[in-house]
Amino acid sequence: AAHTTSALWGGRFASGPADALAALSKSTHFDWRLAPYDVRGSMAHARVLHAAGLLTDAELTGMLDALAKLGADVGSGAFGPAPDDEDVHSALERGLIERAGPELGGKLRAGRSRNDQVATLFRMWLRDAARRVGAGVLDVVDALVAQALAHPDAPMPGRTHLQHAQPVLLGHHLAAHAHALLRDVDRLRDWDRRAAVSPYGSGALAGSSLGLDPGAVAAELGFDSSSANSIDGTASRDFAAEAAFVLAMIAVDLSRIAEEVIVWATAEFSYVTLDDAFSTGSSIMPQKKNPDVAELARGKAGRLIGNLAGLLATLKGLPLAYNRDLQEDKEPLFDSVEQLDLLLPAVAGMVATLTFHTDRLAELAPAGFTLATDVAEWLVREGVPFRVAHEAAGGCVRVAESRGVGLADLTDAELAAVHPVLTPGVRDVLTVAGSIASRDARGGTAGERVAEQLDDLRAAAAAA
Ligand code: ARG
Repeated sequence: AAHTTSALWGGRFASGPADALAALSKSTHFDWRLAPYDVRGSMAHARVLHAAGLLTDAELTGMLDALAKLGADVGSGAFGPAPDDEDVHSALERGLIERAGPELGGKLRAGRSRNDQVATLFRMWLRDAARRVGAGVLDVVDALVAQALAHPDAPMPGRTHLQHAQPVLLGHHLAAHAHALLRDVDRLRDWDRRAAVSPYGSGALAGSSLGLDPGAVAAELGFDSSSANSIDGTASRDFAAEAAFVLAMIAVDLSRIAEEVIVWATAEFSYVTLDDAFSTGSSIMPQKKNPDVAELARGKAGRLIGNLAGLLATLKGLPLAYNRDLQEDKEPLFDSVEQLDLLLPAVAGMVATLTFHTDRLAELAPAGFTLATDVAEWLVREGVPFRVAHEAAGGCVRVAESRGVGLADLTDAELAAVHPVLTPGVRDVLTVAGSIASRDARGGTAGERVAEQLDDLRAAAAAA
């Protein structure tokens, strides 16, 4: 069955495309997001056509009026894709011709191709999206820092291998997540520098012959420069893959916070209680309070990793320049951004409203002999080689464990029996507060260092 179409390319064809091809080819259901950017791109293009003498003053005015109306109608929803429109670019040309007439409307397409158009518009859309996502990430950073500042002295068991390792301040732990997220914001900013190059003027692949100024279009659309190579401009999508990576990295970093919140909210840990507004119930078990925000954060990370992997697979082995495969570049990025748009406010709210059970955290901080390293390091300060000190501290753990007591409860005789240098003075370091305070080099968990760290984080988040 043949399909009637208002396609941009009918001239050399005796018949329209088969229905199956039209259905396969169509992208308006997702690329409509680019419509406002396409209208802005068209306005910039109209101006360079005019500057090159290809539109009269009156034609430029008429064209810009028609495009402004089209833009308003796109914004209000009065103009939308029709069933026969192949993609957003075809639809908008139809809309322009409806508003400017076929004579004037038909002049805009000179010197551009959907290949340079779509590459430019996609960059514009992504640059706006990246700024929005970055702001959402900073809201999570703010929530983490606020919780850290609200519990300045609270110790907790620091873990490696999920086993109790050494006591740390809760604020130090929360700040660690904030540092990772701030690096993601920095990645977005750094990415933008490479993304801020406009392919407009690259044409289909070889550049434009009509004396159009790509630099003028680039400047009008907020880019730093125009493509140095028209083939690269139309064929490259590393900007999209790199963005997909940073978005996936954000989701992965959120998933690590999420996993901890999930574990912390269990009866066994009881580190936190989730706010009612950020937890869900069970349809059958009346007592349940579930960490669904955190679980969705953990789950969506897999989805964003998939979007990155899928796009890279699409790009692998593609010959230069444009290939229609590249139409598959947009949905993964649209999806990754949409998921983060949903996720970031929910995670920020969940973190901001967590209630930390600091008594429980303090009680568990020394459990599991987390002060054993402090015993070893005390011995080192007494001149004992670390290899021997490590053995001796391990010996203390063995005796304490067999008696079912803490390290600080060992008698003078028990200490001396483990190692002669173990005098009662060692008990000075056998407190959680002492252990934490002693780790006072830059990057350590001592209260003063953490306070400085939180100041720096706040300043970095405010400057980002
Ligand atoms: N809709 C296409 C895309 O998203 C752009 C159209 C280019 N089509 C073409 N046959 N050159 O990549």
